[in-house]
Amino acid sequence: MKIQTRLTEMLGLDYPIIGAPMFLVSYEALVIAVSEAGGLGMFPLPNYKNPDDLKIALNIIRKATSHPIGVNIHLSGRFDWKKQLAICLDAGVNFFITSLGDPRLIIDDVHANNGKVFPDVVSLEQSLKSRDGGADGLIAVGAGAGGHGGTIPIPVLVPYLIEKTRLPVVAAGGISNGAQMAAALALGACGVITGTRLIATPEAGVVQGYKEAVVASEPKDIVFSNRITGNWANWIKQSIEKVETTPELDSKKWLDIWSAGQSVAQVEDIKPAGTIIKEMVESYIQTCTSLQKTLLDR
Ligand SMILES: Cc1cc2nc3c(=O)[nH]c(=O)nc-3n(C[C@H](O)[C@H](O)[C@H](O)COP(=O)(O)O)c2cc1C
Repeated sequence: MKIQTRLTEMLGLDYPIIGAPMFLVSYEALVIAVSEAGGLGMFPLPNYKNPDDLKIALNIIRKATSHPIGVNIHLSGRFDWKKQLAICLDAGVNFFITSLGDPRLIIDDVHANNGKVFPDVVSLEQSLKSRDGGADGLIAVGAGAGGHGGTIPIPVLVPYLIEKTRLPVVAAGGISNGAQMAAALALGACGVITGTRLIATPEAGVVQGYKEAVVASEPKDIVFSNRITGNWANWIKQSIEKVETTPELDSKKWLDIWSAGQSVAQVEDIKPAGTIIKEMVESYIQTCTSLQKTLLDR
């Protein structure tokens, strides 16, 4: 069974599930596993330090899967993204999530290559600016999301942004199983991003201790802080206790600084990313079926 939404139609996916592009976590293996399972595998560009590394990664991915993939661009001044964008467009990547900067910087180039741009947003102000700048959709980053989380809970943020912008909206934050995905789609989202859940997989490019910390953590262990990057983000408390200053983008210190969202609550084991996507789909179908049973004729 496939699940059809505006996102799956737009991108040719079996399921409206995006494997989050995670800094220092999402590399080729995770992208391939998610895309092969029928979702959209993604990586963030800063995971590849130079154009050659990026080309090698794209080649590896393309040899392993013909399914669609996406790329996240950090548009901050700290990262030189222009050459990298051109390489992705040449390689046929046609879905981009922008973060940490103005999405208008890439929209014309991506549209000229028949691609779509969905900026990460946490507020109505950012969403309207993105829409007016030509964005094709939005990634609504809600409270408790791994990485740079927002402050508004998904059940409020998703319908709010849909109503005010009329754009397709993907829900990000706290979605790691099929019931949570059904809730997001019930709110009107055209898809979901799952990040935290995919850290606890053999394919995630992180040390074993990080994966185990995601399994062991409870929501109370996740802290929302702007102390590490200057932007508000969710972190596993124990991993940032001794961090005093922001490490450089290519510093090894990042390997011990662990971001995760409150959905660590639902992460109980390390298992393959493809299994996680398959189980999300199965439990989505079960949720829809059991909701149907709550409806009485009279
Ligand atoms: C370790 C980590 C790193 C992340 N890095 C990025 C990133 O580089 N770019 C980005 O757009 N989002 C990033 N995110 C956010 C995810 O794309 C996604 O929105 C989020 O993980 C969804 O919430 P969840 O973690 O509750 O599933 C990151 C998330 C995590 C957990």
